Amino acid sequence: MTATRRLPVFEKFIRDLRIAWAESPDAESRMKRGAELLESLVKDETLRQAAKSWPSTEGRKNLLFYEDFDYGFAINGVVRVAGRKGSIHDHAHAWTAYGVLDGTESLERFRRVDDRSKEGYAKLELASVTAGEPGKVDLVPPFEIHAEQGGPTRSVAVILRSERVAGKVLQGSYDGANNTIRLIEGPTNIPYEITG
Ligand SMILES: [Fe+2]
Repeated sequence: MTATRRLPVFEKFIRDLRIAWAESPDAESRMKRGAELLESLVKDETLRQAAKSWPSTEGRKNLLFYEDFDYGFAINGVVRVAGRKGSIHDHAHAWTAYGVLDGTESLERFRRVDDRSKEGYAKLELASVTAGEPGKVDLVPPFEIHAEQGGPTRSVAVILRSERVAGKVLQGSYDGANNTIRLIEGPTNIPYEITG
């Protein structure tokens, strides 16, 4: 039997995150440091090569690379097909750092402009669109409304979450055309080891 081990750059990422979580006092400062660490991770060529064989996450899936037993942070992957239309959503109370590793995506942010008094109603305006290219990290605070749109080729992103949301709490899903919001389960997490 061949023993598998984590890709060294990914092992180091986890180690550095654990140090950041031990040294920083709250989710915001931890995730700001985590976003810096993610930025250097998604610039790494060995990880980009490894990602060429990661399976597609079509059908509302996330690869689950790691979940920290002590601190609760989680590291996910998303592999989009070319031209993937991303849905508008939030991540409830969790912080999220979204790093593009391969291909290009566009990262959209929305602002909510209704007064939140009407159940199920949410009027949104597009606030910004950022080009997501390899090495780009978008740090998304709790309840921020956003969408990631696929580019002209397959694209891959690595996501650091202050905690796993899927399977724990419901998150907001928005329909910008009909001005609605509903609470839904997060994507299905598929355990996947980054070896090399
Ligand atoms: Fe997201």
